Amino acid sequence: MAQRTLARYLTEEQRTKGTITADLKFLIEIVSRACQAISIAIGKGGLGDVLGEAGSDNVQGEAQKKLDVLSNEILLEANEWGGHLAAMASEEMDLPHLVPNRFPKGGYLLMFDPLDGSSNIDVNVSIGTIFSVLRCPEGADLSTPEAAEQAFLQPGTTQVAAGYAVYGPTTVLVLTVGEGVSVFTLDREQGQFVLTQENVQIPADTKEFAINMSNQRFWEAPVQRYVDEMVAGKDGPLGKDYNMRWVASMVADVHRIITRGGIFMYPLDSKMKDKGGKLRLMYEANPMAFLIEQAGGAATTGRQRIMDLVPTGLHQRVPVILGSKNEVDRVTGYHAE
Ligand code: AHG
Ligand code: MN
Ligand code: MN
Repeated sequence: MAQRTLARYLTEEQRTKGTITADLKFLIEIVSRACQAISIAIGKGGLGDVLGEAGSDNVQGEAQKKLDVLSNEILLEANEWGGHLAAMASEEMDLPHLVPNRFPKGGYLLMFDPLDGSSNIDVNVSIGTIFSVLRCPEGADLSTPEAAEQAFLQPGTTQVAAGYAVYGPTTVLVLTVGEGVSVFTLDREQGQFVLTQENVQIPADTKEFAINMSNQRFWEAPVQRYVDEMVAGKDGPLGKDYNMRWVASMVADVHRIITRGGIFMYPLDSKMKDKGGKLRLMYEANPMAFLIEQAGGAATTGRQRIMDLVPTGLHQRVPVILGSKNEVDRVTGYHAE
């Protein structure tokens, strides 16, 4: 059988399911090209001028790495000219980026975390790009970047596509357009993403959890209880031994869960309670929640389904608990008790 490249896959999906418009197909293809360009830049490592600090801070007050800035520029430049977008928003930019007047405009909004796992860049550990696509509401005010923010503030349930690229030992692109989850692997010689897995399903049960244990003393009681129970293993109430993994790149931790199940938690803790959480709703929580649900898993804040949240700001942060359904349901249940 002929190789199913991303472009071919999208065309076939468009024909058979009708969920993908020509513009959405083009958008995803362009994003995948940008991810290839980012992958190449990352691959240069110490041979190129890509490692280390950029010397600037982003809107969240975090120090930007050179690759945060470069990846953001690659995504903006790749996407602004094609006529498929109304505007873009990024973790690295205070306000939305409007499509410049010299280019045609389209009906979609694109949001991204251009480089996820920044703390892993310089140590050669997997990092990635996360993206989410929304329809631009009819009559949205896009006259200024400030006014455009409102168009993006839609719950995750309205996403039309979401995905991520992981730049690891291989570069993979994981995508949903609301019809299940597919995995594409970058064939570096051909310069193409090729379909390597379709209809990905996450097992409902797991023995693997991911959480930054150094925050333990700051967690709320339900998470304390759940992690204590897992650590107690066979002798505890859950009756089985668990293993722990924490890459500290959400893309890599989520990709492991997409591959073999598991539960990932960046819960609310007392030191970042005012911020609402650590991870960002629009660039991290929503796209990952969409993918995880499409693969049969669940994603909550501990208190409610992530995709039901009505965003109040572009850079809003939320607690995130996602992965194998039965485990997410258990810890979400502890919050309700
Ligand atoms: P980013 O690099 O885009 O700022 O995101 C980093 C996030 C996420 O990828 C990861 O799960 C988490 O931060 C790691 O946080 P800790 O360093 O607190 O473990
Ligand atoms: Mn991130
Ligand atoms: Mn980032």
